[in-house]
Amino acid sequence: MAILISQNGRLFTLQTRNSSYQMLADSCGTLLHLYYGKRMDGEDLSDLILRTDMGFAGNPPQAKEDRTYSLDYLPQEAPSSGVGDYRDDMIRLCGADGSRTAQFLFESFFVSDGAQPVPGMPALYDTEEESGQTLTITLQDSCSNVRLRLIYGIFEREDIITRSACIENSGTSPIVLEKALSMSMDIPFGSYEMLYFAGRHAMERTALRTPVGRAGVRIGSIRGTSSHQYNPAMILCDPAATETSGDCYGFCFVYSGNFLASAQKDQREQTRVQMGIHPDQFRFRLEPGEVFHTPQVIQSYSSEGFSLLSRNYHHILREHMCRGAYKHARRPVLINNWEATYFDFDLERILSIARQAAQLKIEMLVLDDGWFGKRDNDNSGLGDWFVNEKKMGGTLAALSEKIHDLGMKFGLWFEPEMVSEDSDLYRAHPEWALAVPGREPNRGRNQLVLDLTNPEVRTYLLERLTDILSHAKIDYVKWDMNRSICDVYSHYLGPERTGEVYHRYVLGVYDLLERFLSRFPDILLEGCSGGGGRFDAAMLHYSPQIWCSDNTDAVNRLSIQYGTSFFYPVSSVGSHVSACPNHQTGRSVPFTTRGHVALSGSFGYELDLNRASDAEKAEVPAQIEAFRRYYDLTHEGDYYRLAAPGETGHMAWEFVSKDRSRALITAVKTESFGNPLPMHLPVRGLDPHRTYRCSMNGAIRSGASWMGAGLTVNRILPQYESILIELNDPDPSAPCASPG
Ligand code: DGJ
Repeated sequence: MAILISQNGRLFTLQTRNSSYQMLADSCGTLLHLYYGKRMDGEDLSDLILRTDMGFAGNPPQAKEDRTYSLDYLPQEAPSSGVGDYRDDMIRLCGADGSRTAQFLFESFFVSDGAQPVPGMPALYDTEEESGQTLTITLQDSCSNVRLRLIYGIFEREDIITRSACIENSGTSPIVLEKALSMSMDIPFGSYEMLYFAGRHAMERTALRTPVGRAGVRIGSIRGTSSHQYNPAMILCDPAATETSGDCYGFCFVYSGNFLASAQKDQREQTRVQMGIHPDQFRFRLEPGEVFHTPQVIQSYSSEGFSLLSRNYHHILREHMCRGAYKHARRPVLINNWEATYFDFDLERILSIARQAAQLKIEMLVLDDGWFGKRDNDNSGLGDWFVNEKKMGGTLAALSEKIHDLGMKFGLWFEPEMVSEDSDLYRAHPEWALAVPGREPNRGRNQLVLDLTNPEVRTYLLERLTDILSHAKIDYVKWDMNRSICDVYSHYLGPERTGEVYHRYVLGVYDLLERFLSRFPDILLEGCSGGGGRFDAAMLHYSPQIWCSDNTDAVNRLSIQYGTSFFYPVSSVGSHVSACPNHQTGRSVPFTTRGHVALSGSFGYELDLNRASDAEKAEVPAQIEAFRRYYDLTHEGDYYRLAAPGETGHMAWEFVSKDRSRALITAVKTESFGNPLPMHLPVRGLDPHRTYRCSMNGAIRSGASWMGAGLTVNRILPQYESILIELNDPDPSAPCASPG
């Protein structure tokens, strides 16, 4: 049983394979958090909480004269505002009387089979292999008659617990939600660090680690998207935690808009952890009878360090979040024309790229920005989703046919959520853009954001997408989004509901994507937001791969892909071989290394191969062959980080097949030193009782010995060179050669 209930229905223990999570609805009705950690049997742990009079810690009426009972220090699951808990609240509502006080007390619970969907938003779903269980605990503020439902989903085998909440106005007056986070949890004991993933455009998701103290650590986005600057996922860990040891707790937000994630110690040295929609500019009005649903947070606990935690997330996102035709089907190797041409192309230029690519066995051509409306630079044309037949030298159908005749699939770029002021759409419907009446709007990439809260706008966009996709054979769509959102005002929602725009915008994006995919279920969708500005678990529900970064420099990509790997499976990482000197950094890296780095992702090319050297061109078919050969490892296997950026002068990682019969190690030399030392790598995840032969030097050893002693690279790699090493079933007749 994944959900244990005792103490007359007031003690709740959620059990996963390796973890337990316990809560108690105490005698006053407060839902206390008692434990999250290594699996135990479900015994009542309430004796862990010692009640004392903390002083200046108020007592709720239910405590009567007991001055030791205070919400100011008790570890809770759903702290609210105005009732004497001076730490950060999870739920804040403004009642009809203007007060911001609500005390949510235990009312009831129920258990249901299966994962519970979150209306209007992505959430983990059941599969034939594993379905979840759900515990719903209802709390009520008796004064306002507002109900707070806390929803706990359990995927027992996967070591996953999800949290979300819904707030129902069962009263008779409207209320305004000012803060509605998805989860809050107070860890009563211990000290922690926060590992989070921060960056900027073209340099996303650098892993950073910082202690959580009384001053607190907060990350978030108020840009309308999950953002390049902070990814909506974090790990709370033991300060000594490593890849292979130590307690760590993961929190991954299934949401693509504004978010807040925080951890802070309180006066008792307890750590309050929270995640949810960012309260800035959030004011959501609920009429009597209306319900607000928060997005889902995916939690996991590992007592064995980050590596196991990451594998839990990779598996759950791959199996229970990604979906569609390409959930497991091999993705085509693509070539994208963006860095080859930018806006400067015509039919012949595209065809010449395609012809060369087809010869080298590339499987799909993706036509990026610039094929529609008046779009020869990024100052105009967005919104006018009509093929520019003059620039394209004919119809899109004709171009697509020519590409298919070359034996390739055809993909197309869109940026549906945006509008240029210099566009027919904007001239016809200026009120469809988000902009504050009477103020000149802020522009980002010289474009405005369409009001996706407005169903008419979404219907228009769906019609345009449908029209284009119905008139040409299109196998893939890249869905881009190239600015942060401000000037938040919707002509459709009006002034009363301005505080709802950010959230309703995200719901609008999901609605549009859902309708688009149900119309074109076989399309491969690649998400993008200037690279990885919207790289989050929710987008994976629509697009099983996301363009990881606009930075295609293989060396910078090492740290970007390293940071990405803590939560997101390698199958979701769009990664391309591009030209050198690299367009973002000016660095030159060997073609082989560029291939090895891109192989750890959904692989493709982003250059004009007509301009590549013969030696480079000669490598392409072998790289594609390697992508196919290792697909079961890179896209379905287990992933291990072996060396972190900057630690050793090299980076290394490993994939192990699900049946543990083979492994693939990639190592890249990032820095060179005089009198260089050998590169020694750990090996992980093998079956200790099997033997494996190393493709680099032919050595045959047991899994136990590879994992115990590791592996030494048999030559000194020059800077930026890389090596692929396969560990495989020993076959003495096979030639001893490195696949890299
Ligand atoms: C930003 C994307 O990340 C790029 O790959 C490219 O598609 C450009 N937009 C096109 O405008």
